[in-house]
Amino acid sequence: MPDDVADEILGPGADGEGTSASWSASSWRRRAAAQQPQWPDEEELKHAVSTLAALPPLVIASETRSLTAALAAVARGEAFLLQAGDCAESFREFGADHIRDKLKVVLQMAVTLTYAAGVPVVKVGRIAGQFAKPRTAAVERVGDLELEAFRGHMVNDEAFDVQARRPDPARLVSAYHQAAATLNLLRAFTKGGFADLSHVHKWNQEFVASSSEGRRYERIAKEIDRALRFMAACGIDLQSEESLHETDFWTSHEALILHYEEALTRQDSLTGDWVDTSGHLLWVGERTRQPDGAHVEFLSGVINPVAVKLGPTVTPDEVAVLCARLDPERTPGRLTLITRMGAGSVADALPPLVERVREAGHPVVWACDPMHGNTFTSEGGRKTRRLGDIVSELREWFGVHRELGSWPGGVHVELTGDDVTECLGGAEEIMEGDLAQRYTTACDPRLNARQSLDLAFDVAELLRG
Ligand code: TRP
Ligand code: MN
Repeated sequence: MPDDVADEILGPGADGEGTSASWSASSWRRRAAAQQPQWPDEEELKHAVSTLAALPPLVIASETRSLTAALAAVARGEAFLLQAGDCAESFREFGADHIRDKLKVVLQMAVTLTYAAGVPVVKVGRIAGQFAKPRTAAVERVGDLELEAFRGHMVNDEAFDVQARRPDPARLVSAYHQAAATLNLLRAFTKGGFADLSHVHKWNQEFVASSSEGRRYERIAKEIDRALRFMAACGIDLQSEESLHETDFWTSHEALILHYEEALTRQDSLTGDWVDTSGHLLWVGERTRQPDGAHVEFLSGVINPVAVKLGPTVTPDEVAVLCARLDPERTPGRLTLITRMGAGSVADALPPLVERVREAGHPVVWACDPMHGNTFTSEGGRKTRRLGDIVSELREWFGVHRELGSWPGGVHVELTGDDVTECLGGAEEIMEGDLAQRYTTACDPRLNARQSLDLAFDVAELLRG
């Protein structure tokens, strides 16, 4: 990137309103950007951004168009979205085993949903870029020491000392390299045989297979074997059916740190479209979705499918403005609205939103994040969630959509392939006293592989109606 471009990208930018007519990859700079770290060294930031800008894209324009098309089928009620992965990816938990095990769980959930509900599943990971976290408090105080809050490994480190908490722009580049390596392995796994339907049993990890959820999964896997043998016996050449041997697995993350997203935004040479090549789908969080703020401005100009998280206090008017900003053309698959209301709040909060969006004519995907509205601190001081609350929110959410005749399009969950004890409940009954055993999350509590499967069985039943 030439220096003058770097200056333009890094400069304070002119103030003023800015309209979508004047959109550029850096036009977000003219808006208030919530939740950005205070980068202590401007030169370091410049250097990181120009390094990123010179690196190859992680995803390309045609892939984002394919995902939009897949999500359009969801918006029409012909498919279901499964978006799942870590709350925050970690620079330390970065190895083939972690990535493979996370993929195994998502494949297990997806195949369960596909088989049990008879609906195609669009698989999207919170992965290969999910390295930054918004924080309620900008600083954290322990005793006399006050330090910048931990904002995810793209920004700083969770250790409570001055050096670790200092926002370090070199981390933007490290995040890119970890995302690239992660995506490379995911592409290999999903296109190179690992996701072949003849391997459904191999996705069942040992510690899962021995549980009641694992045994229930085994029964489904055996039925899938039988279905495949049946098709083969009918004379269908399974070997030549590509769709049986591979799957599409898309990446997504919260587009939070806008210097990272801007540096990876490129113009498609064929069409002139702008693509954020950091991931296939980007979302804007509950804390950064101000309609006139920097994050919405940025996402309004890229062609990627985008999503918005909506909490229980959002108003129908706010949602209508967000739809107008992010989906002015009313493009099916462009916009996903992910509600995170909390169990007990959905029946009141959701219907006015669905009705308003319908009136405004936006063909959105409705997805349910049953995790973030159900977080609390246990007596032992750990953030946790009850599987029971998570399922309750989902049940309420499906109920509203059934009532209104809208399509319950998808779920958004935080999970890991590891055998952690971070969320309560599930068939193996994790209790508050168990949380300390294997609590390894870099941020919010995640479902473990058994709890994730449990959830998939429930969602499949809700989908069947
Ligand atoms: N290609 C189909 C799909 O992605 C079938 C399939 C292949 C599949 N491997 C899978 C489905 C793994 C779920 C999980 O839906
Ligand atoms: Mn989270």
